[in-house]
Amino acid sequence: MHTLHVDLGERTYPIYIGRDLLADDSLLSQHVSGSQVVIISNETVAPLYVEKVRTALGSRDLVTEIVLPDGEQYKTLETLSHIFDRVMEHRHNRGTTFIAVGGGVVGDVAGFAAASYQRGVNFLQVPTTLLSQVDSSVGGKTAVNHPLGKNMIGAFYQPQAVLIDINTLHTLPARELSAGLAEVVKYGLISDEPFYRWLQDNMPRLLAREEAALAEAIERSCANKAEVVAADEREGGLRAILNLGHTFGHAIETAQGYGRWLHGEAVAVGMLLALDLSARRRWIPAREVSAYRDLLVSMHLPTDIPVDMGEEQFLSLMGRDKKVIDGTLRLVLLRGIGEACIVDDTSREELRTLLQAAAQSASG
Ligand code: NAD
Ligand code: GLY
Repeated sequence: MHTLHVDLGERTYPIYIGRDLLADDSLLSQHVSGSQVVIISNETVAPLYVEKVRTALGSRDLVTEIVLPDGEQYKTLETLSHIFDRVMEHRHNRGTTFIAVGGGVVGDVAGFAAASYQRGVNFLQVPTTLLSQVDSSVGGKTAVNHPLGKNMIGAFYQPQAVLIDINTLHTLPARELSAGLAEVVKYGLISDEPFYRWLQDNMPRLLAREEAALAEAIERSCANKAEVVAADEREGGLRAILNLGHTFGHAIETAQGYGRWLHGEAVAVGMLLALDLSARRRWIPAREVSAYRDLLVSMHLPTDIPVDMGEEQFLSLMGRDKKVIDGTLRLVLLRGIGEACIVDDTSREELRTLLQAAAQSASG
């Protein structure tokens, strides 16, 4: 097992990464302060892993299990309200520990529930998708969606610990694994060139779910994210680099209707556009764009924007992004591989040329 820390002063917390961690009955227990626990999972993950979590917790006075329906469409205020109903019915006190067992949807909703129940209770993350293990469980962003925008209602609320059991990835559908790997590649691109080169060499091992390779990739991703979060917890500046490709990706997700493209798939293509734009500015060589495209192909990820998306629709959706502040579009680009920067000087013309080329490549 490897332990990393997200360094936030007195709110510093550990990330445990290893095999069979759910079978270890002291790891989770040491972070459960009271005798009451709420386990929040979903109908897909609960039958696979919740019993293990219950066993690891030993005997407690009150354990309430809340099983949510599966899907991004349930990341809502209604689901949050359902959680509060159940927790209130069982009279959970302020000493209760909430434990999220699932992917990013479960983690984001459970985290926001923990942030707001009685103004904040103890919270543990047990992420079970690759994306949640390398991204959403680390860093304290919690949220639900509003019909008019994704992740629009939420809070920064750090967990007391994150427990990553690599074995949970063996049941993950291949498409979800690839989408999670896109976020792993992101860390190499934004801040860790040696890691990016390692990923280019080791992608077949990751796709084959070799545990040593997965452990290495998860650890290096979490270490990179922990460093950024420690430096800029509330996204005053630097943390925005974690959004490489996301402005383009969100436009794709919104245009296609959430659910048709996975988040990681949209981000993968968004990062291709960001690399392309960086190359057009002569910040990175054009060969890096083709090498990244080849990597996406090997990962079974899409390499083209949707054929039915015109540049005007793209531009209009990008204008609604959360990173637009006072009318200025901020984009994350690369000054080099492993060297992300935030720019606010992209012209409409520059974006239009980029998107026209992308549309041509998609239809050709
Ligand atoms: P998800 O939670 O929907 O999980 C994907 C699918 O895998 C679901 O069907 C789920 O039930 C299933 N699943 C989960 N673990 C499994 C396992 N071990 N075996 C088999 N099936 C399993 O999706 P996700 O990609 O984990 O997370 C996406 C969400 O995360 C989005 O809502 C996004 O907004 C959010 N997110 C949040 C942050 C953050 O910083 N808080 C960062 C990135 C993404
Ligand atoms: N996923 C982006 C962030 O945590 O800031």
